[in-house]
Amino acid sequence: GPPLRALAEKRNFQIGAAVEPSLLLQEPEYARILAQEFNLVVAENVMKWGALQTSRGQYNFALADLLMDFAQKNRMAVRGHTLVWHQQLPRWMYGSFSPAEMEAILREHIQTVVGRYRGRIAYWDVVNEAVGDDAKLRPTPFEVLPDYLEKAFRLAREADPQAKLFYNDYGAEGLGPKSDAIYALLKGLKERGVPLDGVGFQVHVDLGFSPGAVRMAENLERFARLGLEIHITEMDVRLSGPGSRAERLEKQAQVYREVMRVCLGQPRCKAFTLWGFTDAHSWRSASEPLIFDADYKPKPAYLALQQAL
Ligand code: XIL
Repeated sequence: GPPLRALAEKRNFQIGAAVEPSLLLQEPEYARILAQEFNLVVAENVMKWGALQTSRGQYNFALADLLMDFAQKNRMAVRGHTLVWHQQLPRWMYGSFSPAEMEAILREHIQTVVGRYRGRIAYWDVVNEAVGDDAKLRPTPFEVLPDYLEKAFRLAREADPQAKLFYNDYGAEGLGPKSDAIYALLKGLKERGVPLDGVGFQVHVDLGFSPGAVRMAENLERFARLGLEIHITEMDVRLSGPGSRAERLEKQAQVYREVMRVCLGQPRCKAFTLWGFTDAHSWRSASEPLIFDADYKPKPAYLALQQAL
């Protein structure tokens, strides 16, 4: 059948994958499949704060630039990931800062990073995982600045008025207390005129996940009614669990298919991104969560997405 990318483009839809740019140089097959199958990329790590600004005021853009060049050459959209997150921060961020200093740090970083790629990054995950599993805001070095969340969005808008600005999180795909907390947070931001354009649902799940059981379609619909664009941003499906290997591969395909259908059934859901694409390179390689196997052969999950698209 046709590549996923060709099917997506017919629907004016984006199908994406997270990328480690060093692999683009090391593995021709990695680069080839990526460009053939996807029309959107996101940096799995190289645009995180700890990768970009290892010491204060010193930026390393080499790998991020490599990804941007690859995307441009292959006519792929880019999701920027991520500006404000409590993880993968450099050591120096854990110093003690006054609110004014933290504001300056945030402004400097956002202006430098978002400004560098102005007009070339279609979507930014401005804030990632700010809400904890207890439905409260997580502790983070940013919190010394009480309105850090709102500030981050305003600074990002100033630095690139064209980029669509996202809040991104996991464990909020279905209805539930965490999703309720994120809904209330985003509703409040919209009401206060904060420049927020979209919400990303990560969808790091296992074979037990069922969009029907958690009422994912209803959940997406309430966020859509806030006027937000919706993206599936980091999907992968761990293969571990009972059953034969063939059964588990089929079940994995079914989970991918169901989530894709929910997204395609929601008019505001415009992009579906996987957290990698081959089991050879995944943050959870051992549980083979992706749609190509470690030898770059398409798995049943690949065919399921192809059929759904
Ligand atoms: C993960 C990367 O895949 C790993 O390589 C890294 O060691 C840790 O971060 N939610 C996110 C992503 O928003 O940035 C995380 O990526 C996975 C969970």
